[in-house]
Amino acid sequence: MGLRKIKNVIKKFFYTRKFLKKNYLANINNKNILITGANSGIGLALTKKILSLNNKVLATYRESSENLKYIKDKNLTFVKYDQRNINEFEDLEEKIKENPIDLILNCAGVFGGPFEDQQIEKLDFKKFQEVLMVNSFSILKIMQIILDNGLSAKNLKVLVNISSDAGSIELNNQGNAYIYRASKTVLNSITKNMSIDLNARFKTIVFAIDPGNVQSGMNPSGHIESEVCANLIIDLISSNVKSFNGKFINLLGEEIPW
Ligand SMILES: NC(=O)c1ccc[n+]([C@@H]2O[C@H](COP(=O)([O-])OP(=O)(O)OC[C@H]3O[C@@H](n4cnc5c(N)ncnc54)[C@H](OP(=O)(O)O)[C@@H]3O)[C@@H](O)[C@H]2O)c1
Repeated sequence: MGLRKIKNVIKKFFYTRKFLKKNYLANINNKNILITGANSGIGLALTKKILSLNNKVLATYRESSENLKYIKDKNLTFVKYDQRNINEFEDLEEKIKENPIDLILNCAGVFGGPFEDQQIEKLDFKKFQEVLMVNSFSILKIMQIILDNGLSAKNLKVLVNISSDAGSIELNNQGNAYIYRASKTVLNSITKNMSIDLNARFKTIVFAIDPGNVQSGMNPSGHIESEVCANLIIDLISSNVKSFNGKFINLLGEEIPW
């Protein structure tokens, strides 16, 4: 094994250790939960776990629902919502009308292309806009749909945006990935704003989570599995969720600077 590989194994060992937990809290049941980006990665792991806890899940997917199709559960409904085209929302709206949403786990996200294509010289602004639509603005559209259907807004108890520490302005010491970082910074700003606005109007708890280094389509060599990440997110929501309103936290509930 080369030196780099050994270093990586050691890094992974210490990283993973932080997230080992004997018992996860999982006090979520009988809720209607909307999960975006649910056909893969963290969203798929959350969908499976939350269904196993006896909740109804409305899962959205971009194009293919092949992983969702394998889940045979009467409490699962899935609907196409490509967050690049946020105005094509009629199918999603119909489903939201059927079941007022109690909780949103907004997982959908894209990195926006390789690092080298996110250098200033190479920036493709059409791509940039598309990523902003998927990673940042789409949650506002989803909230608009909910508010337009008045009744369900009062139902919404918790809204979690899966962000990234790459969106933290304070923690940025690398100066790369303009598209991804900016999109998550915008998402963070929207999260903070909604935590004040929606909390004042409907007592909705709104916060952002950085899932850390998770194995998924976006990060194939991630340190922890999507299932572990999903358990930790559910653990956070099951604990003292009110204390998280307006915060940006990691999987252990520790605050991250905006
Ligand atoms: N993995 C990490 O280490 C890590 C670290 C920090 C933050 N995050 C964040 O965690 C979230 C989940 O990512 P992941 O790691 O689970 O990666 P992932 O497996 O790639 O999941 C991303 C999800 O977003 C969906 N998506 C992409 N474009 C979309 C669009 N136009 N409309 C609707 N959905 C779309 C994907 O659908 P398809 O499968 O159809 O493409 C997929 O289900 C993302 O917001 C990501 O930024 C991940």
